[in-house]
Amino acid sequence: MEEDDARLALERHATSKISRVEDLLGIATFGFRGEALPSIGSVSRLTLATRVRTSDEGVELSVAGGGEPSVRPCGCAPGSSVEVRELFFNVPARRKFLKSTATESAHVGEAVLLAALARPDVTFVLARDGRVAREYLRVETRAERAKQAIVDESLESCVAARGSLHIEAHLAPPERARAGAVGLYLFVNGRPVKDRQLARAVAQAYGSVLEPGRYPGRVVYLDLPPDLVDVNVHPQKAEIRFADARACSTP
Ligand SMILES: Nc1ncnc2c1ncn2[C@@H]1O[C@H](COP(=O)(O)OP(=O)(O)OP(=O)(O)O)[C@@H](O)[C@H]1O
Ligand SMILES: [Mg+2]
Repeated sequence: MEEDDARLALERHATSKISRVEDLLGIATFGFRGEALPSIGSVSRLTLATRVRTSDEGVELSVAGGGEPSVRPCGCAPGSSVEVRELFFNVPARRKFLKSTATESAHVGEAVLLAALARPDVTFVLARDGRVAREYLRVETRAERAKQAIVDESLESCVAARGSLHIEAHLAPPERARAGAVGLYLFVNGRPVKDRQLARAVAQAYGSVLEPGRYPGRVVYLDLPPDLVDVNVHPQKAEIRFADARACSTP
């Protein structure tokens, strides 16, 4: 990014992903609200370093607990990197509400796992206490990423399409099914989501092999035209709404 854009990136509700109202009806990116960077910057020490390929110098913006960023030139590789340190250093009340290190650490692991499953083409490295805990090297396909990420189970794969709906599933065997859908990772247009109806549709596809209320584990990717799904219905973007929900639950 150029310096102007980088400054803008840290402003509330500034996004490059929507320029017209109609863009809201066909969102194909993860972000679209322009909230992530300023929100995180207001509760941490955040640094954004960025350099356009055509310039031999980059720019580094730092914010500590919100406010105006301090800006200085920096030597960095082309591209952008964001560093967040000391989360909640300025809001001790929030900090106190964090769960145990083990619990928070498991949440982080889950968030990285979901990101890694969503983007096989990106390398993710999770380090914990200075040691690499998980490493997802970039791969070509979702199938490869699923196998790389789920190491404790052998996955059965299937790919199908109907009309404009495409589905790709990498699922654990039915005998490993669980009483809830927590082990079933659903992605709609590459976005990790929680959707009861979709989870149920996946379970129903097993017919009588699964008892009612039991769900198979692991990974399902559903892709459909972005105008058939509304991703702007949940504060954390964890839930979505289908224009025609029945189309995905009829077997
Ligand atoms: N790595 C990056 N490279 C280039 N531009 C970036 C990068 N990260 C953020 N930006 C720019 O900064 C803007 C603000 O980022 P931010 O994450 O705050 O909002 P968003 O992604 O648009 O929406 P959301 O709040 O839903 O994540 C983005 O719209 C994008 O233009
Ligand atoms: Mg974002």
